[in-house]
Amino acid sequence: MTNGPLNLDELRASAESKLDKNAFDYYASGAHDEHTLRENRAAFSRIAMRYRVLVDVSRRDASTEVLGLPLSMPVIIAPTAFQKMAHPDGELATSRAAASAGIAMINSTLSNTPVEEVVKAGSAPILFQLYVYKDRGETKALIERAEAAGARALVLTVDAPLLGTRERDRRNHFRLPEGLKVANMTAAGMGDLPDVADSGLAAYVAQMLDPSLSFADLEWLKSITKLPLLVKGVVRGDDAIRCVQHGADGVVVSNHGGRQLDTSVATIRALPEVVDAVGDRTTVLVDGGVRRGTDVIKALALGAQAVLIGRPVLWGLAHAGQAGVERALAILAEEIDLAMALCGCPDVASITPDLIAP
Ligand code: FNR
Ligand code: LAC
Repeated sequence: MTNGPLNLDELRASAESKLDKNAFDYYASGAHDEHTLRENRAAFSRIAMRYRVLVDVSRRDASTEVLGLPLSMPVIIAPTAFQKMAHPDGELATSRAAASAGIAMINSTLSNTPVEEVVKAGSAPILFQLYVYKDRGETKALIERAEAAGARALVLTVDAPLLGTRERDRRNHFRLPEGLKVANMTAAGMGDLPDVADSGLAAYVAQMLDPSLSFADLEWLKSITKLPLLVKGVVRGDDAIRCVQHGADGVVVSNHGGRQLDTSVATIRALPEVVDAVGDRTTVLVDGGVRRGTDVIKALALGAQAVLIGRPVLWGLAHAGQAGVERALAILAEEIDLAMALCGCPDVASITPDLIAP
């Protein structure tokens, strides 16, 4: 692997050269001053590793399971909206790349491809990220469609009662290019972003999504679906406990990649509190700023079962469609493998808290 991007940051540079400003800025940006966007990564870099020596690492196995789904490595593709802005194959390419890498993908409610087609595109397990619309009837119909299509879990995003202000999107008057839709919602008449002199997505979220969502709605969701329910966007132990008490099957420690509340705590800093609160009872995943194999090892050492990656998948898509996403995942797989070898960890079970320097 020496031709082309060597790491996920180089993949980003390639994507930037290929995308127009409307698309690149939407993908890249964080909220307001983008403190949290930067801090998600900076917080990883401040964690030092106590690697082990003289462990036989001639064979290494990064495979694991999340919610009973087998993964070739502890990585899942995070839900990101509007993937056809990166490449005409959009979510279909991502689904196929997840399949060839042996991992799972979470499909956004706001995909440019209907969830049925994303599931059918490849053999990867597809989880469905849910945004709850004010129209609960249409929300229920959407969940039923995802379940019927073969989605393996619901991932309810709870950190976006309103959209965080991404100033680049406001400046660009963010809009979907001609022909692209919120494909899951076209039949419901909610497939287009409003045409406003501001971020069209912020306006869509304010008009359509339900900011009244509360813990009681976890029980509502559990009552209308058989799918396991993960709650995404939690950064506190007390919230994680309440999620579990109200029926969640797991939580994703996430601040939406720094796109919602700016100055919110970096996710790798929030993770230990959530693991202390619920880690013995439920699935805990984390995302935000994972760009290196060592980041994945740190997340697991601090108690997560797996990480989600968001933007690097979009950079791969923009770089070269399915092959570009495969490239992103191969870079990460190679880095995880090397980090495991250098940490003295032949398998994920040996990635334990003592690897983190106090
Ligand atoms: C997102 N994210 C997101 N989350 C979600 O639950 N539903 C969504 O539709 C989207 N859409 C979306 C679009 C774009 C362009 C980005 C960058 C992010 C958040 C995403 O799932 C995840 O939490 C972060 O992207 C993780 O951070 P990194 O890996 O991008 O640093
Ligand atoms: C975003 C929404 C769609 O972060 O989740 O842009």
